[in-house]
Amino acid sequence: MYFGGDYNPEQWPEQVWHDDVVRMREAGVNLVTVGVFSWALLEPREGCHEFGWLDRVLDLLDANGIGVDLATATASPPPWFSAAHPDSLPVDAGGHVLWPGSRQAYCPSSPSYRAAAVRLARALAERYRDHPALRMWHVGNEYGCHVARCYCDVSAAAFRDWLRDRYDLPRLNEAWGTRFWSQEYFSFEEVLPPRRTPAVPNPAQALDFFRFSSAELLACYLAELEVLREVSPGVPVTTNFMAGLHWDIDYWEWAPHVDVVSTDHYLRAHDPEAHIDLAFAADITRGLAGGAPWLLMEHSTGAVNWQPRNIPKTPGQMRRNSLAHVARGSDGALFFQWRASRAGAEKYHSALLPHAGVDSRVWREVCELGADLRRLEEVEGARVGADVAIVFDWQSVWAQEQPGHPSVDMTVRDELATWHRALWKLGVTVDFLPAHGDFSSYPLLLLPSLYVLGETDRAALDFYVEGGGTLVVGAYSGVVDENDAVWTGGYPGALRDLLGVRMEEFVPLGEGRTVTLSDGSTGGVWRELGRTTTAEVIASYTDDGFRLAGSGSEGSVIGGSGGGFPSGDVPPGGGHDPWARHLAGAPAITRNEHGSGAAWYVSTRLDDASLRRLLARIAAETGIATPAPGLELVRRSHPDGSTYLFAINHDDKKDVALAESGTDLLTTKDFPGTVPAGGIAVIRQRPEAG
Ligand code: GAL
Repeated sequence: MYFGGDYNPEQWPEQVWHDDVVRMREAGVNLVTVGVFSWALLEPREGCHEFGWLDRVLDLLDANGIGVDLATATASPPPWFSAAHPDSLPVDAGGHVLWPGSRQAYCPSSPSYRAAAVRLARALAERYRDHPALRMWHVGNEYGCHVARCYCDVSAAAFRDWLRDRYDLPRLNEAWGTRFWSQEYFSFEEVLPPRRTPAVPNPAQALDFFRFSSAELLACYLAELEVLREVSPGVPVTTNFMAGLHWDIDYWEWAPHVDVVSTDHYLRAHDPEAHIDLAFAADITRGLAGGAPWLLMEHSTGAVNWQPRNIPKTPGQMRRNSLAHVARGSDGALFFQWRASRAGAEKYHSALLPHAGVDSRVWREVCELGADLRRLEEVEGARVGADVAIVFDWQSVWAQEQPGHPSVDMTVRDELATWHRALWKLGVTVDFLPAHGDFSSYPLLLLPSLYVLGETDRAALDFYVEGGGTLVVGAYSGVVDENDAVWTGGYPGALRDLLGVRMEEFVPLGEGRTVTLSDGSTGGVWRELGRTTTAEVIASYTDDGFRLAGSGSEGSVIGGSGGGFPSGDVPPGGGHDPWARHLAGAPAITRNEHGSGAAWYVSTRLDDASLRRLLARIAAETGIATPAPGLELVRRSHPDGSTYLFAINHDDKKDVALAESGTDLLTTKDFPGTVPAGGIAVIRQRPEAG
């Protein structure tokens, strides 16, 4: 179980380093990430390396038994580099250069950046490959965090090469639908990144550019990886993802190239259900790791510095957050950063060792967390099991969040988070899979929002249901193919036969409006007008119940990541939706038997309570329990059957009883028992002998 965080000793005089290691030992820190932003110090002039200070840091850490996740230091080129290679600076869609003076000022396609990064990675690998403190390599940092896409001329040329590898000119024109708005290309040289345009840019061009940009960043990572593999074979390599937080990188493509799947997660301080968002990110990360353990590379002990209001974590919250990540598969908890900075843009960001020093609540909680993680050593390597999986991909996010869709309130991210939240509240652990994943071990598969669906993936879903699986599809899935071109003949084109429905029109709701279904459920945001072909209607739209939620002429916004729709009375003059009576009786929720399985369709966005009810019903039909336990319950198991039940009480006022038997590794208390308000138990449950 790793415990520690980003360590930036270069920000401090050397005598502080000695205090650092004493304190690290006191807290039980066993892994620190060193050098992430050290390029300028390691290579103060092109080709001149100064490793002496890093030698001393690594030796000191090693002498104190602290392992190092050593960065290749390529996340932020120093100012001298940008001055010498001005064409390496990134440019935004509007043509503005993003200048040095902050971090990550490089174009992912820049040959000079890539060459310099690879040189530095090689020099570090040659120097430290045999250092006893070295535990793993950390390439770059949060690729794409600030510059996910660059629109400069160098990128434009690289984009054209990327396109040439995939299309000839007629096929490019076909794939991008360039007959529309007179966009036909007669030479690759005419093709540009989707720079700022007078009107909505070509969405298929944008989708390909997003794919290209993710691939360009991956190429930066792979170039360094190749050097590390050559010079320092056998040492695991990672780069920290931002799963569930940033959506610009296709991590399904990246994950096979890291030895340790690691991710960063920062809590939304304003969100009372931020712990569910944490679970969402952690579950996605476990999906990227193929269900195996992964590593929480960064989170915070308290406040960050980049939200509008940076509210610190309440006492006990850091512990709950850390162990919630461990519950969902992380073999440790690391933080940004070890010692709070005195200077720079992040000086008000929390740290393991705060500005106040060791005489502080935060430090005491840090030491307690270190002790907790030591008590959980035997959990390391255990895997989380789930019977339900959510299928998603980044392409759908990119395509569906372009302008020009039926409703701005309908987004892939919200649908994913909403469905995941419903399952969290039902007490059901869920895995995440790509559309090309292996569904075979899951009795229940959910597709909250898979807007882009190609023929191969469509066929795999068909096969899954045919063979006895239960599939639940959310609205606006399977609507376009890989080129963002509509599957015609009735929505959702790729899935309509499997679902046994044929929808003719999307009829989004006005802002804040809701619709009542015949089974009493409430929907919002989205409706579809159509009919069933072979499906059974579970609930239909009714002609009443259109309301304005909240006050004002259009009410409050629903959608987003809120927790359901506030119901309100119809305000004077409001409430009438001219579409209501035309939709009355049309199918809203359907179920289609197909082969030996069933495929459900939900053509509106259900509010939280209605979605929970529906998923509980479907889970029951599939034999999956929905205990809705009042605690966050997640199990990790070893192949020998020993299981650890993590029981996290997010209510800081109420103790919650738990009927499960076993011993709590954190307190050594026996269960059945009570998980105290705001507390956690990790209950070891051994398999029955014989
Ligand atoms: C991460 C980043 C760290 C630090 C942290 C602050 O995105 O990797 O270097 O900036 O955010 O929350």
